[in-house]
Amino acid sequence: MPSDAKFALPGSPATPIQLVDPNGLETALAGLDGTAATWARENGFSASLGETCVLPSVEGKIGRVLIGRGSEAARRRKRFVIGAAIAGLPEGRYELDQSSAEDTDLDQLGLGFLFSQYRFDRYRDQSASKAQLVAPSGIDVARLEAIAAGEFLTRNLINTPAQDMGPDHLETAMRSLAAQHGGKVTTVEGDDLLVQNFPMIHAVGRAAKQAPRLIEMNWGESGPLLCLVGKGVCFDTGGLNLKPGASMGLMKKDMGGAATVLGLAHMIMSLGLNLRLHVLVPAVENSVDGSAFRPGDILTARNGKTVEINNTDAEGRLVLADALALASEAKPDLMICMATLTGAARVAVGPDLAPFYTDDEGCAKTLGDAAARVNDPVWRMPFHDPYEAMIEPGIADLDNAPSGGMAGSITAALFLRRFASEVPRFIHFDIYGWQRANAPARPKGGIGQGARAILDALPEVLDL
Ligand code: BES
Ligand code: MN
Ligand code: ZN
Repeated sequence: MPSDAKFALPGSPATPIQLVDPNGLETALAGLDGTAATWARENGFSASLGETCVLPSVEGKIGRVLIGRGSEAARRRKRFVIGAAIAGLPEGRYELDQSSAEDTDLDQLGLGFLFSQYRFDRYRDQSASKAQLVAPSGIDVARLEAIAAGEFLTRNLINTPAQDMGPDHLETAMRSLAAQHGGKVTTVEGDDLLVQNFPMIHAVGRAAKQAPRLIEMNWGESGPLLCLVGKGVCFDTGGLNLKPGASMGLMKKDMGGAATVLGLAHMIMSLGLNLRLHVLVPAVENSVDGSAFRPGDILTARNGKTVEINNTDAEGRLVLADALALASEAKPDLMICMATLTGAARVAVGPDLAPFYTDDEGCAKTLGDAAARVNDPVWRMPFHDPYEAMIEPGIADLDNAPSGGMAGSITAALFLRRFASEVPRFIHFDIYGWQRANAPARPKGGIGQGARAILDALPEVLDL
């Protein structure tokens, strides 16, 4: 599986790529030599977004490539189109004619190119892009390559089916990530979860073949403490409240929160940000056997709160609750939770927007601005206090699945907040982690959401 993608080094000659704005089409064509302009016209080149016209040289080689910039509206509708178009060019070495790219977001172009190199080829050979792009001057090559490698890690982890990505494998993945960057991993596994007071992680995961566990990674010596918590449900059958087949089909991706958090951790560690990183992944399979937790059971969480189980399919908030309780004990400066937590979040905002919750206005603003800058769309949702009553069942402190199911993403978020109460800056993302159809630089399959926005927001939020 690809673990990274790189730019070509400058030096040897490369074919120029000229970006063409539809408004400047005539001027651009007038600047070409006669046959090339005729060729572009004959081919009907109109400079629509991502439209590509390969121009021959006098020897009949590829002499120059025109790529359309399209309208601003078109660019708003689709991300990464130009970078993906470059990755789709015939085998060869290309470089951007930078005088044509003055109004172009080079980071997005570069990331589009790098992201387009991704192939999930663990189980079948996939044809790779053979186009190389010389790093445009002015971009931060190391940063973009670190972001791409983090994104590839996220995609690989999500795409790998549960038979090869159970709690054991997720732990192995986290250990190899830590080894790469000098981080330290510890795990609490199986019945030790009870001894060390992670009762809900144990309850959710104990019916599966691979033991449930809490995997922790620590990295960094100085700076503010950032804690990332990711839902690591390696497969979600729903438990005794078994999911119907159609809903279960995609549930290998229920560790998408963990995968995204690990991708983000890779970016942070590669870039050597001056912070202390604490990553927590409760890794379980929500499965069924005679020891499975049941509807009606009342569990006691790490922080002593009791939880009535009204649906064993609302398992994510249970394993996260114990992990958040532990994370809170260290009083992090910022705590971020990422989870494929509810179907309701998809109903609310669809697959492409990453909804997030926070009580901190500053964080919300910074995150929203960063998301817009880096084209990683997020949307703030409310921790609506009046709905607190919905998660209080009466015979226990909390209900894991309020009846009626209204505001399902909000009630799940409120549930988590009960375990993060000591942390003033807490952000929870209810992500989807899946790209449903091929799009530029985003092949169908596992996808990171929110990680790039967070990475861009961190310096401001944590005063780095
Ligand atoms: N992993 C699912 C949520 C999910 C489903 C995310 C589909 C993305 C796509 C989660 O564990 C779950 O099953 N949630 C239930 C909660 C309900 C029983 C309160 C849901 O959303 O239906
Ligand atoms: Mn579930
Ligand atoms: Zn789940």
